[in-house]
Amino acid sequence: MENKHCDLGLIGLGVMGRNFLLNLADHGFSLTGYDLDLDKVKQLNKEKSDEHEIHPAEHLADFVAKLRRPRAIMLLVPAGKPVDSVIEDIKPLLDQGDLIIDSGNSHFNDTDRRSEMLAGQGLLFMGTGMSGGEYGARYGPSIMPGGTREGYQRVENMLSQAAAQVDGEPCVAYLGKGSAGHYVKMVHNGIEYGIMQLIAETYDLLKRGLGFTAHDLQDLYREWNSQELASYLVEITSHIFATGDEKTGEPLVEVILDAAKQKGTGKWTEWDATDLQVPTPTIDAAVAMRNLSGLKGERQQAAEHLDGPSATYGGDRQKFVGHLKDALYSGMILTYAQGMALLRIASKHYGYELDLATVARIWRGGCIIRAALLEDIRSVLSGSPNLPNLLMSRDFAQEVMGRQNQLRAVVSAAVQMGVPVPALAESLSYFDGYRSGRLPANLIQAQRDYFGSHTYERTDVQGTFHTQWRKD
Ligand code: 6PG
Repeated sequence: MENKHCDLGLIGLGVMGRNFLLNLADHGFSLTGYDLDLDKVKQLNKEKSDEHEIHPAEHLADFVAKLRRPRAIMLLVPAGKPVDSVIEDIKPLLDQGDLIIDSGNSHFNDTDRRSEMLAGQGLLFMGTGMSGGEYGARYGPSIMPGGTREGYQRVENMLSQAAAQVDGEPCVAYLGKGSAGHYVKMVHNGIEYGIMQLIAETYDLLKRGLGFTAHDLQDLYREWNSQELASYLVEITSHIFATGDEKTGEPLVEVILDAAKQKGTGKWTEWDATDLQVPTPTIDAAVAMRNLSGLKGERQQAAEHLDGPSATYGGDRQKFVGHLKDALYSGMILTYAQGMALLRIASKHYGYELDLATVARIWRGGCIIRAALLEDIRSVLSGSPNLPNLLMSRDFAQEVMGRQNQLRAVVSAAVQMGVPVPALAESLSYFDGYRSGRLPANLIQAQRDYFGSHTYERTDVQGTFHTQWRKD
């Protein structure tokens, strides 16, 4: 292999990086890879096949020398400092016009900072979200590129071939300038948190409330996955209940510690939504429940002396299972509605110019939140690109209205049973709040004005008003 022939170089040969490199190589591209950890370079050498044009490098200078110019370099390293440190190391070896693509879960503010800094030095930068885990990286992820359009055009063919394909369309598209790609990936993950929590709540009610065994759960989620709930997360939930623990013989999920970890993208979604004053209550509830789950020791102590009702469901079991399915489906729609509404406002605020139908399109395959529902979302958004909220479309309004009684029944039952269902309940409150022409915020305004002279507006006349509330 002569120098300077590789189409792309990948830095970060962890399992995601290696798999994405092998994926690109399957499509006939010629590649190089580098990692500070030489064992990972060796691992790549083991995994590649004779047909693959993969030429790993053991030194950064060698890696750079193998790349065709202008160079395209992709980073798949942990978000945060490692990205800055790789950029610092590689920068002096690059020439004007070379392209760096950060495909990790970087915070969008970091992406904007890096884009600006690298543009000042004549380098092109793309912040690119990539979803689908290890398997997706290997056989077709959903790819969410943002940043320089010129850079995207250079790698478009490669990314399109490596991405998941749905109905002959690749799950990748240029999303917008600056940090658009990483912002979209962050919201993808926020939705992921919301849906995972919704599913977990149905599991809790089925197990604690109805005494479902792992076997029953496996069958039920499998059945749900064959209907309107068809989605990757429901599918893997069914697989999880089918997996036993070799050590104890129990279903593996039952010996897993109930303390959920998080890398940060869920809480970033919540934070930015709050900054932009966009309500995302289902996502916020999911983050809060991960935090509550982390208080394992404290919860165990509290369980000794804080009593509540019996979690056993006393009503019609079959009917309740049907209600749970409808409640989960409405919760999912309401979570996508919140995520899409956030993307709409963020796009205006940050100047991304996102096309939300395109976002829904590239989420239909490869990514963790892929679901049959996304085809309907894509279709509604392409017909009405300026829709403020999915709930304002006739189709989704009907989907949720037609299931609201079931969602209400599940939330009320859970409250009576003492089983926490904040994601289902917050989804319902989002629906009820959104459809309320008048909310009690007038009282909050009055209270603010009472104690802090913060003023208020009136419903009948324009202007800002203050009342001397205390008469003494
Ligand atoms: C994906 C996933 C991926 C990762 C999450 C996990 O889209 O492929 O979202 O990015 O698994 O970041 O996030 P938490 O550790 O925060 O759950």
